[in-house]
Amino acid sequence: MLRAATREAISAAAEIVRSGGLVAFPTETVYGLGANALDAFAAAKIFEAKARPTFDPLIVHIADDAMLRLVVDEPIPPLARRAMQRFWPGPLTLVLPKNSRVPDLITAGLSTVAVRIPAHRVAHALVMHAGVPIAAPSANPFGALSPTCAEHVQATLGDRVACILDDGPTPFGIESTILAFLPEPTILRPGAIAREAIEEALGCNVAVVSIATSTPSVPGQLPQHYAPRIPLRIVDPASVAPEDRRRAGLLAFRDDVPGYGASRILSPSGNLPEAAAQLFAHLHDLESSDIDRIDAQEIPEVGLGVAIMDRLRRASIKS
Ligand code: TXA
Ligand code: MG
Repeated sequence: MLRAATREAISAAAEIVRSGGLVAFPTETVYGLGANALDAFAAAKIFEAKARPTFDPLIVHIADDAMLRLVVDEPIPPLARRAMQRFWPGPLTLVLPKNSRVPDLITAGLSTVAVRIPAHRVAHALVMHAGVPIAAPSANPFGALSPTCAEHVQATLGDRVACILDDGPTPFGIESTILAFLPEPTILRPGAIAREAIEEALGCNVAVVSIATSTPSVPGQLPQHYAPRIPLRIVDPASVAPEDRRRAGLLAFRDDVPGYGASRILSPSGNLPEAAAQLFAHLHDLESSDIDRIDAQEIPEVGLGVAIMDRLRRASIKS
């Protein structure tokens, strides 16, 4: 079930994908739950395994330009081309006009498809060996915390998936940034590539669709998402009374606060990429600690801090 991601394991997983099965695999962002993106029946198994509503579309992972032409149609906006040149392979997902080969189930009936070339050695080799684009959401039950190591997948979807390729913790630890062209370049989900870097590469301003305003106009913009099993609130821990700390866990940015029942520090040096990489692993640890709630400290909203705060806000919304 859990297999070290050797060449043999990757080709076995590719064979499972080709024959319509499900595999979990590491990407540079989080672990994905993949199936052949050109096979509606295979993709349906993803929705079933995750208990994911079918109005929430999937990201399609490709290996090269030939596969891109298979899943998208012209016109590809010139700014999208520029983003590809600068950020692919890598954690930037582009929303582009969909080719009719892509089953409607994958795109929730939209005329666009979300696509990226992953930079992770294992993800890239898996798509290459499979020879087909691979649709893959994060490998967690719908709405739960994203998995940043193979054990997270094993614990929640272990009995739903034929194979989990294990390559240790994922380097970015937070999902890809999703960029659409409406036609203005617009970030639909802040993620592993900061808005500032995209603006620099494109030479223009990039808008961000905020969850605060979301009635989900774009599918998948569901405000409640990435939630731990216990309540999470965003709070200044220094303002929490000591007797209220004992049964709570602290997710701190740089500095610990005494008196909490459990605590995790995202980055003692205040490094935002490091904090992003630790976010889900720490939340997984805290949700399985003997505490009743998580107090998350605010993170500066610059660079990757925007993606971190997006995940924390969604995690703090009660369903
Ligand atoms: O880093 C990642 O992106 C990871 C790894 C596995 O690649 N994948 C991931 O997938 O985070 P998932 O399913 O958790 O997020 C997919 C989201 C949807 O919820 C939706 O917001 C957006 O991608 N999406 C997909 N297709 C779209 C489309 N055609 N238009 C707008 N948004 C779309
Ligand atoms: Mg997800």
